[in-house]
Amino acid sequence: MSERIAVIPGDGIGAEVVPAALDVLDALELGFEFVEGEAGDHVLDERGEALPEETYDLAAEADATLFGAAGETAADVILPLREAVGSFANVRPARAYPGVDAVKPDTDLVFVRENTEGVYTGIESELTDDVTTLTRVITEDASRRIAEYGFEYAAENGYDDVTVAHKANVMRTTDGKFLDACRAVADDGGYDHDEALMDALAMHLIMRPEEYSVVICPNLAGDMLSDLAAGLVGGLGLLPSANVGADNALFEPVHGSAPDIAGEGIANPAATVLSAAMLLEHLDYGAEAERVRDAVESVLADGPRTPDLGGDATTDDVTEAIIDRL
Ligand code: NAI
Ligand code: MG
Repeated sequence: MSERIAVIPGDGIGAEVVPAALDVLDALELGFEFVEGEAGDHVLDERGEALPEETYDLAAEADATLFGAAGETAADVILPLREAVGSFANVRPARAYPGVDAVKPDTDLVFVRENTEGVYTGIESELTDDVTTLTRVITEDASRRIAEYGFEYAAENGYDDVTVAHKANVMRTTDGKFLDACRAVADDGGYDHDEALMDALAMHLIMRPEEYSVVICPNLAGDMLSDLAAGLVGGLGLLPSANVGADNALFEPVHGSAPDIAGEGIANPAATVLSAAMLLEHLDYGAEAERVRDAVESVLADGPRTPDLGGDATTDDVTEAIIDRL
């Protein structure tokens, strides 16, 4: 059966790294059908909206979506697209690779971030000129769902170490709910886990990342801790991510549109190619996903490398090298 993949390159380097990842997928000759959709700053300029309804529908109806990046309209594009695929889990692996200069070469972390609530609900108000508020929403259902996903992800991917990040000592009601839900899921499933206060965890992740594997987090904590981990392993050009829903998912590099290097043909395609590998895994093409990851790893180890990793290769050079090593 042919898989239908929505492809949304977006702005800036999104339009450079997504075609690179498609070349890699094409080289696998899996017979996927790729359907391209428009979104981003340039679409806002041309059509008055950053995310046209047809692009939203394309993502909602596809078997999976590969997204690049949007620029200033990122929130108007990616938040609705995550909703279009019904995403509740944001999975962000942060691994150090041999050959890449990493602050902590022993890092192999996967953040499983709740993707629908917390402080990202947009429930803000300006009570007076002086006083503004934000409502933090934590529900039992969403907390259980992310915990179930996180523990199952760890078990399926061979990680025996799961940490639940929280701040229930201060946010007693909301993170208390989150923590209770995670404990209940761990009990029900017979899973071992550790718990960590998210602020102390930030320090421990920098000092001893090798002691952690899968980290289940509320929304904001997952956003911040995963960017922190990006810094440990050599930068944004390497970090893929998945936005997973019950029966659909969207895959994207963690990085943005990088206007400082857009158009120069030197963006590192690794993050997007690794996102495509996550897409393959999600669609049950596990062996192909492994081939892609191995090829990326081999190129990171031996070169060619783009300037963000200290080399002078172009996006095309690196993409061709990845395809050669498939
Ligand atoms: P950014 O991730 O675009 O760039 C940060 C730095 O990392 C830049 O110096 C850039 O050149 C470098 N970089 C990022 N990806 C790279 C790659 N693949 N290869 C080589 N170098 C790379 O973040 P920034 O600068 O904060 O935001 C730029 C624009 O992107 C903004 O308009 C922002 O709103 C948008 N953005 C969009 C996101 C999305 O669509 N999901 C996520 C983050 C930012
Ligand atoms: Mg972020």
